[in-house]
Amino acid sequence: MTMNLIYKSIIEAIIQNIDIGIHVVDDKGTTVIYNQAMGDMEGLQINDVVGNRLLDMFPSLTAETSTLYRVLNTKKPILNTRQTYLNKHGKQIKTINSTIPIMLTASKYGALEVAKDITREQELSKRVEYLQHELATKDLEDDKLRGYTFKSLMGEDDKFQSSISIAKKAANSVSTVLIFGETGTGKELFAQSIHNESNRADKPFIAQNCAALPESLLEGILFGTVKGSFTGAINRPGLFEQASGGTLLLDEINSMGLQLQAKLLRVLQEGYVRRVGGLNEIPLDVRIIATTNEDPLDLVQKGLLRKDLYYRLNVITLNIPTLRERKKDIPTLVEHFIKKYNVRLNKDVWYLSNDVKEAFLHYNWPGNVRELENLIEGAMNMINKEHIIKPEHFSYEIYNKMFSNIQNTYSIKMEDNKSLDDVLEQVERSLISDALSACDGNISKSAEKLGVKRQTLQHKLKKYGMLKEE
Ligand SMILES: Nc1ncnc2c1ncn2[C@@H]1O[C@H](COP(=O)(O)OP(=O)(O)OP(=O)(O)O)[C@@H](O)[C@H]1O
Ligand SMILES: [Mg+2]
Repeated sequence: MTMNLIYKSIIEAIIQNIDIGIHVVDDKGTTVIYNQAMGDMEGLQINDVVGNRLLDMFPSLTAETSTLYRVLNTKKPILNTRQTYLNKHGKQIKTINSTIPIMLTASKYGALEVAKDITREQELSKRVEYLQHELATKDLEDDKLRGYTFKSLMGEDDKFQSSISIAKKAANSVSTVLIFGETGTGKELFAQSIHNESNRADKPFIAQNCAALPESLLEGILFGTVKGSFTGAINRPGLFEQASGGTLLLDEINSMGLQLQAKLLRVLQEGYVRRVGGLNEIPLDVRIIATTNEDPLDLVQKGLLRKDLYYRLNVITLNIPTLRERKKDIPTLVEHFIKKYNVRLNKDVWYLSNDVKEAFLHYNWPGNVRELENLIEGAMNMINKEHIIKPEHFSYEIYNKMFSNIQNTYSIKMEDNKSLDDVLEQVERSLISDALSACDGNISKSAEKLGVKRQTLQHKLKKYGMLKEE
């Protein structure tokens, strides 16, 4: 054997026996080296991967989210990033990866990725975090003080869940995120959750509303000022410096003047800031999240958002659906807010009466989740000892807006694949709920009203899961 061959077989033995995953792709994104450790992590066979295109093997990755692909494109290393992905068998894998470009021939570059499996460590730390969260929520229910995390984001709707999964991926990267959603959809919650789930979580999270200040002031606030640069200016670091190591949320970015947008773009591109009137270049180490409550492409069209800044910010796009697009989440959100305000207002409210429920489902929620939360808080303030939120607990104005066109009738139609039992259950639930709400949750009185024995009603409440948890 020549030296070269011996060398090659030693390297091969090392690659196949260490517990660090190794994955090499050529300039086309086709796997050329893939070791056992990587296969164990990803639940794949070496032979299935080698010779195949990366994106075919990992359906959840795209050319933008795959680090190997990004390195192929940029030829710049990406070091120590956390990755979460689904392998072909649907198992979620978490790793710490470093990816570097490697020269294959004089003109061709491939990419090498090394990965350490941290799924188990992550699960353990998640568990600890969850227990701590449970503990903390016992006496301190104000998320604002602790900062929101993905666990505080309520909603099962598919669109909403896909926003969450994009946001979770964003948490593992340092790329800029552009969040777009109507007012009250939860943009700030998403931004905080991304920060709190990222490895910058123990560094500052600073939010600045770009609509709140005139351009000249905002510039000083963002970039800092140097004494003497203009009348009254003092030496003060800007938010870019104050958020160093952490995350800076630029809220309502479209309200920023176009000139300042240009300056912001330059800072982001050059990777350093200069205080207003200053000469020093201060290196930037801030994760930027920007929000708009209008479609960013419309804003670009209208000339309110610079196109080049839009492209620079829009590395990861996060669309948050409106509440009217995900009405099936209303019950979950209602339950969540009732619990929250029971604690905060010291009430014992259980649920919404049927007509309130119905009205909520018909309303179009221009103020989205914030509006829903405010309505519930408002109504719960009007409740004394009762347990059920009824139309009369809302202000006259809201009452008119929401309840005037809803009639409380039972319209029973033959729906596809609904059995007689299903329909009867629906009617029964509805009548029981009405009786309870008329009798303010009193079971004996409700039974009397319905003309059934107390035990019968008890039994049905249990069967339909309508009993209040103690
Ligand atoms: N998915 C959710 N789960 C629980 N609460 C939510 C959710 N979305 C929004 N909220 C509630 O709604 C309030 C408003 O959310 P947030 O401040 O993030 O909205 P926003 O999109 O930033 O609105 P704006 O554009 O007006 O600033 C939050 O304080 C929170 O209480
Ligand atoms: Mg906001």
